[in-house]
Amino acid sequence: MTSPQQNEPIWQQITQDLRLDGRPLILFDTIDSTNSRALALASEGAESGTILIAQTQSKGRGRLGRSWESPRGTGLYFSIITRPQLPPADLSKITLAVGLALRNGVAKVCGIKPLLKWPNDLLFEQKKMAGILTEANIDTEGKPTVVIGIGLNVNTPATVFPAELANHATSMCIAAGRNFDKGVVLTVILHEIEREIERLANNDFKGILVDWRAYDATYGKWLTWMTPRGKKISGMSLGPDEDGLLHIRDSEGTSHPILSGNLKINLNGNRQVKSKMM
Ligand code: BTN
Repeated sequence: MTSPQQNEPIWQQITQDLRLDGRPLILFDTIDSTNSRALALASEGAESGTILIAQTQSKGRGRLGRSWESPRGTGLYFSIITRPQLPPADLSKITLAVGLALRNGVAKVCGIKPLLKWPNDLLFEQKKMAGILTEANIDTEGKPTVVIGIGLNVNTPATVFPAELANHATSMCIAAGRNFDKGVVLTVILHEIEREIERLANNDFKGILVDWRAYDATYGKWLTWMTPRGKKISGMSLGPDEDGLLHIRDSEGTSHPILSGNLKINLNGNRQVKSKMM
C-alpha cells in the first residue's frame, strides 16, 4: 500500500468525517481493486463498516467480468465491508438498496435527477455515471460478509473516458457543469447507504422498492436480455419484484425473472405498458 496524498482535500476531509462517525477507513493511492482487497480483508476478520478507498485502481472490476476504468483522482472508487443480518437469499436486495442510496446521494449533492437501471447502474441522460459491484462470502455457519463496491464518475471530464465509452459514460461534473468536493460526495453517499441498509435490516424492502421504482430507467421499455448462457430474450421491463429480481415480458406474454446477465435498452423499440406487476 502506498501512502495516500494527504495534501489533497479529499483525504483530509474524509479522515475527519470518518473519525467523527467512527467508521474504519483504509486509504490507498493505487490498488488493483478495492473490492478484491476488501474481500481479502473481510476473510481476515476486518470490522463490519470498514471502507476502502483509492485514488486509482489498476484492475478495477465491474459486473460480468468487465473492467472498471478508474482515472486517477477524478472519481470515487470505494468498497464497504458489511455483515448484514440477512439470509443469503436476500443479498440481491442489497444492490437495489445501495443503488437507491447512491441515486439519492448524487441527486442531493449534484441537484440532478439520475435514474437507476437494474440491477446496479446509475444513469443520467441515458449515460452511465456510476456502477455497483456487490460480492459476498458466506462463512461455514451460513453468515454472509458482503462487499459493496462503488465506482462513481465525479469530476471526470468527457475527454478522459476511453473512446469506446465516450457515448455511454457521464460524470457528475459533465451533468452539472461544475466540479464537486469528493469528500462531501462520499460522506453524503455513506449516510444514504447506512439509511437504506437500516431499512433493509428493519424488513422494509417493500418501501425501498417503492422508492426504487420511482427512478426506474427501464420500466415499460423494451429490453434485450443476454442470459449468462449467451441466449438473447427480448421483452418489456416490468421492473424488479419483491425478491429484487427483474421481470421482462416477451411478445408471447411470458414473464422471465432475471437474476443476472446483461441488459440492453432498445431505444427505438419502446412499447406501451399493458399491465403492471403484482
Ligand atoms: C459495474 O457497473 O459493473 C460495477 C462497477 C463497480 C466498480 C467499483 S470501483 C470500486 C470497486 N472496486 C472494484 O474493483 N469495483 C468496484
